[in-house]
Amino acid sequence: MTNRTGPPVTNHILSDITDGVLGLTFDRAEKKNAITDGMYEALAEHLDRAQGDPDVRVVLIRSRGDAFTAGNDMASFARQSAGPVEASGPSNATRFIRTIAGFEKPIVAGVRGRAVGIGLTMLLHCDLVIIARDAKLSAPFVNLALVPEAASSLLLVARIGHVRAFSMFAGGEVLDGEAAAQWGLANRAIASEEVDAEALAAARLLATRPRQSLMATKRLMRDHTAISEQIALEMREFSARLASPEAREAFQAFAERRPPDFAKV
Ligand code: COA
Repeated sequence: MTNRTGPPVTNHILSDITDGVLGLTFDRAEKKNAITDGMYEALAEHLDRAQGDPDVRVVLIRSRGDAFTAGNDMASFARQSAGPVEASGPSNATRFIRTIAGFEKPIVAGVRGRAVGIGLTMLLHCDLVIIARDAKLSAPFVNLALVPEAASSLLLVARIGHVRAFSMFAGGEVLDGEAAAQWGLANRAIASEEVDAEALAAARLLATRPRQSLMATKRLMRDHTAISEQIALEMREFSARLASPEAREAFQAFAERRPPDFAKV
C-alpha cells in the first residue's frame, strides 16, 4: 500500500493505492463523514489525477466509522445559503459531481451505515455497489427545501422508478440495504462487517480486467450528455433553493436540533 502524494487538502479523505485500486476513504466519523468543501476538493483532485494515472485501474469509495456519509456538511449549506450565491462561482461540490459523473474508470463503493443526500446520489455514478443489509439510504432534499442533485432527478428515477424516487426525494423515505439491492441501487446486501473486505475484493478483481474494454463498456452504458445537461439544470434550481428563506429555516433547525417550521416562511 502506498500513500498518495499531492496537496493535503483535508485530513478527512484518506487515499491509498493497492493492486491498481485507488481507495478513497471518508474519515470524519465524529460528524458522520459529512462532506465539507475541502473534502469535495480532495475527492475531485484524486479523481482528476486518477483519470490519467496508469497505476489506477479502479476507484473504491468507502468510509471509516459507522456512517458512509451524512451528505453535504450542514454548516457549509448554512454559510452558502446566507452568502451571495451568484458571486460564489462553481463550488467544489459542483466540481466533485461533474468529475465523478465524467469519470471513465470503474468505481466501486462499499456502503455501511447512513448514506444521505450526495452519499446516495454519488452511488448512481458508481459501477458496483456492495452494501450492508442494515445500511440506510436517503435523499431528503425536500426536507431541506432543496432539490435533487448529481443528476439523481434523472438517474434515480431511471433506476427505481418515478414513484419510489419521488417518495425518497419529497418524503425523505429511508431505504435499507436489502431494499437497495432489490431495487437495483446495489449489487448485493451483506453483513455490515463484511462490506469493506467484499468491496475491496470486487475492486481488485475489476482491476485485473482489461482496462480499455472496461472503460469502453462504462462509456457505452452511460449517456454522458444527458447526465451533464441534467446536472446543469439541477444546479440552477439548487442554487436558487439554497438561497431561499425555506432552506435557511431548514439549516437553522438542524443547527438547533429541532424540526423545521416551514409554515412561518
Ligand atoms: N453536516 C454536518 N454535521 C453533521 C451532519 C451533516 N450533514 N450530519 C451529522 N452531523 C453531525 C451532527 O451535527 C453531530 O455533531 P455534534 O456531535 O457535534 O452535535 C454528529 O454529526 C452526529 O450526528 P447525530 O445527528 O447526533 O447522529 P445520529 O446518528 O443521531 O443521526 C443522521 C445521523 C445522519 C441521521 C443525522 O445526523 C442527520 O440527519 N444528518 C443530516 C443529514 C442531511 O440532511 N444531510 C444533507 C443531505 S442533502
